[in-house]
Amino acid sequence: MSDKIFIFDTTLRDGEQVPGCQLSTPEKVTIAKELELLGVDVIEAGFPVSSPGDFQSVMEISRAVTNPIVCGLTRAVENDIKVAAEALKYAKRPRIHTGIGASDYHIKYKFNSTRDHVIERGVRAVKYAKSFVEDVEFYCEDAGRADNEFLARMVEAVIKAGATVVNIPDTTGYCLPIDYGAKIKYLYDHVSNIDKAIISCHCHNDLGMATANTLAGIQNGARQVEVTINGIGERAGNTSLEEIAMILQTHKELPYFSNIESRRLTQMSTMVSKMMRMPVQPNKAIIGRNAFAHSSGIHQDGVIKNRDTYEIIAPEDVGLVDNSIVLTARSGKAALKFHLERLGYKDLTKEEMIPIYDAFLEMADEKKDLNDDDLIRLMHGEVMEQAISAEFVQVLCGDAVKPVATIDLKINGELFRSAANGSGPVNAAYRAIDKLIGEKLEVDEYLVQSMNGSRDTGKVHVRINKDGKHYQGFGFHKDIVVASVDAYINAINKLPIAFLKNINENKPMHYFKVGQ
Ligand code: KIV
Ligand code: ZN
Repeated sequence: MSDKIFIFDTTLRDGEQVPGCQLSTPEKVTIAKELELLGVDVIEAGFPVSSPGDFQSVMEISRAVTNPIVCGLTRAVENDIKVAAEALKYAKRPRIHTGIGASDYHIKYKFNSTRDHVIERGVRAVKYAKSFVEDVEFYCEDAGRADNEFLARMVEAVIKAGATVVNIPDTTGYCLPIDYGAKIKYLYDHVSNIDKAIISCHCHNDLGMATANTLAGIQNGARQVEVTINGIGERAGNTSLEEIAMILQTHKELPYFSNIESRRLTQMSTMVSKMMRMPVQPNKAIIGRNAFAHSSGIHQDGVIKNRDTYEIIAPEDVGLVDNSIVLTARSGKAALKFHLERLGYKDLTKEEMIPIYDAFLEMADEKKDLNDDDLIRLMHGEVMEQAISAEFVQVLCGDAVKPVATIDLKINGELFRSAANGSGPVNAAYRAIDKLIGEKLEVDEYLVQSMNGSRDTGKVHVRINKDGKHYQGFGFHKDIVVASVDAYINAINKLPIAFLKNINENKPMHYFKVGQ
């Protein structure tokens, strides 16, 4: 058996199931391309039958990447499989991932079925999936709590039906590493055709053991690991890709290896965290802000004398550069472009870089060191041409008055004013803006954070929903109501051009131009 460990990334499927982390198709494609560069072997791109958005994403990712296998999830249901095959039709290397519950909890309470019947359904699903693609993975859901003897029967049957990979998920994150490892060993000892398939570990982190369980699986014969960037995923998350990759790379005595390009890990992590708006805990292994920060005097002293005293991984090996002080007014365009790319602003042309660089120099003159937050502010606030801009924001609020907002907006060059009250200052301001643009927009996410960790400036992120599509906006200001207005306007500026152009013509009666 080879010691190559296949990295199956499910950030865009299990990871994306986290509430509030949903991504648009272009965002998923951006992440998928980065995963390809990172060197993952399989990208689980979505669950095509679950929504038109997921279907579209699987299709676009299939078009966009070349080397990794692109995988679509299904239940053991014919229509799911047919839809997944359709979504994967442009994939150079398609895989259908189908499966059914394997524990008695699932068999009895989810399916009201019997052990024999779920095996029968699993076998049928594999055979049906094989009629579309050669590469079929089967998941035995809740295998972590399944009876090993039954599990072995199920695994043998689906391999006989043609499964090329069999996934043994610890769906509830219940297993102890010793038991999960023993489960994989049991399968190797009792499934007669196990050499015909790759065994895969898919572990959840409910008890903080996902990485340990995955490693135990590898040590007992599994050769594929199902992981996510930053360990995001249902509930407490999945096994994190960066932890497994760095365990294999750091423990030289282990024979296992993966194709992960570890120097891209930090960049990959930042991209996923920012796009999914899921901050990484500072002490997270490998990619947390403090993972390489030595703060105690004793540690600093040791590291200065010899890094090996307290460091088992060189920060450069995971692509860590000190971002906090690199960019100054003396930095050139190349340095700026490098950092913008690191944050996900790719493919900027020379022409596009000119106004960005000018705005950067202005900002760098005011503030000595620019960090990631400043760059995002630069890209979202300063340099983009806006059809709509807020020219005046005044809000009266407090616990003794009904909040009321007066807003002046410049819309396609003309200035308009509106006022509205609301349940709070932001609500009043947004209602005043809605009057001016002639539409009440649905805000489905609203988040205020401190900028650069200080209490001076607020950073607001807003997501609006128009006609089923999401548009994100960011705003930055000392006053969080003004930041909220800026974020809302920033999102509105991303609405379809036809809508933005028509706002002036469709003005309702209660608009009036400033000065009239
Ligand atoms: O955790 C799990 O069991 C899963 C399967 C659908 C593969 O995510
Ligand atoms: Zn899962």
